[in-house]
Amino acid sequence: AFDIGKLRDQTGYVTLDSGYKNTGATKSAITFLDGEEGILRYRGYPIDQLAEKSNFLEVAYLLIYGSLPTQTELDTFAHQITNHTLVHEDVRKIFDGFPSTAHPMGILSSLICSLTAFYPKSLDPNQSPEETNLNIFRLIAKISTIAAWSYKNSVGHPLNYPRNDLDYCSNFLYMMFAFPTEKYEINPVVVSALNKLLILHADHEQNCSTSTVRLVGSANASLYGSVSAGVNALWGPLHGGANQEVMEMLEAIQQDGGNTQKWVDKAKDKDDSFRLMGFGHRVYKNFDPRAKIIKKAADDVLKALGIDDPLLKIAQELEQAALTDPYFVERKLYPNVDFYSGIIYRAIGIPTEMFTVLFAMGRLPGWIAQWKEMRENKEPIGRPRQIYTGELERDYVGIEQR
Ligand code: ACO
Repeated sequence: AFDIGKLRDQTGYVTLDSGYKNTGATKSAITFLDGEEGILRYRGYPIDQLAEKSNFLEVAYLLIYGSLPTQTELDTFAHQITNHTLVHEDVRKIFDGFPSTAHPMGILSSLICSLTAFYPKSLDPNQSPEETNLNIFRLIAKISTIAAWSYKNSVGHPLNYPRNDLDYCSNFLYMMFAFPTEKYEINPVVVSALNKLLILHADHEQNCSTSTVRLVGSANASLYGSVSAGVNALWGPLHGGANQEVMEMLEAIQQDGGNTQKWVDKAKDKDDSFRLMGFGHRVYKNFDPRAKIIKKAADDVLKALGIDDPLLKIAQELEQAALTDPYFVERKLYPNVDFYSGIIYRAIGIPTEMFTVLFAMGRLPGWIAQWKEMRENKEPIGRPRQIYTGELERDYVGIEQR
């Protein structure tokens, strides 16, 4: 029989916190989050101010290096990133090996990991700060090229090489949407919406993918290997993959006649595994400040682009139905960052399968900052314990006697 006393004698005392609901894994000076009050700050700056006034590269610099850059620092940073947007032609060849149906998140994580082969110095745990910076520039630059190419590959279009005369977001949109036979015009409304979305996703302290990056990195794994693992964690539908699922859910509700109450009831039914995607959060128990900003941005972007998307109306009705339902009120379930982001992605032409890739591009500076902080603080290897509940000891029995 299971004997907890005997087990403790053998293994010592261990704190069990499934899902790490109340376990701090690290000290960090990057992002402050108060789930009860709905506060999110990067390096002390409120998220609403950054979303309103900053741009993605400036926020990336802030997260990674700890303070807002001067104009010269920002220009140098942006220049370094622009300098590295090309990927090695052999990386390009890897695309040919993927079927056109491959999910772009799978391509993204594989190709980010493949960068270790092209930049083997990144594997050195004792690399210089200059080498680390080089890998940071490369990763921020190349993720947008790899992301855009994974989409072009999926639709069988020719790949667009990066344009270094464009800013970060404009270049990404160009690589995604330009077509050789048509003139491609950059739309400033779309560029500004993309900047805002990337900023809102840029860091969120010790969430599942970031903890993954830190845990993998704690074994002295390279930046590329650690971030590649983070991409896979983000892909899960309970994490970043929820933005794709939200869009698919809204489309399903539309096809079902738009009866949002029916879907709210379905989410409440404990015999049904369905959950309202884009609702609920481990830490925010009041509201997700990012969702508030995104909801307003979705309205603004659709108006500015002259788009009337019936899915926005369904999303608003669904939110209303859920927020007035005692099940959601009692459990403090509110729309999270993923609920309205898809409406904006859709409005600016991003295909649904690319939604989580866009999340990864946004989260990248956070992953980098957290990986770098962990290294600089010389944190020990991450190695959780467990409470063993299996057989204590038994003798091996030959196969003929089983
Ligand atoms: N729909 C219906 N019920 C829900 C939902 C939902 N979206 N979310 C939580 N609940 C219910 C649970 O069934 C549980 O009910 P119970 O107390 O009767 O058992 C209660 O609310 C608490 O939920 P937990 O799963 O224990 O909360 P946890 O903190 O572990 O999970 C999570 C948080 C994963 C975000 C969850 O709310 C969820 O699955 N949401 C849908 C997926 C989603 O939107 N993910 C994106 C999160 S944001 C991000 O990662 C970027």
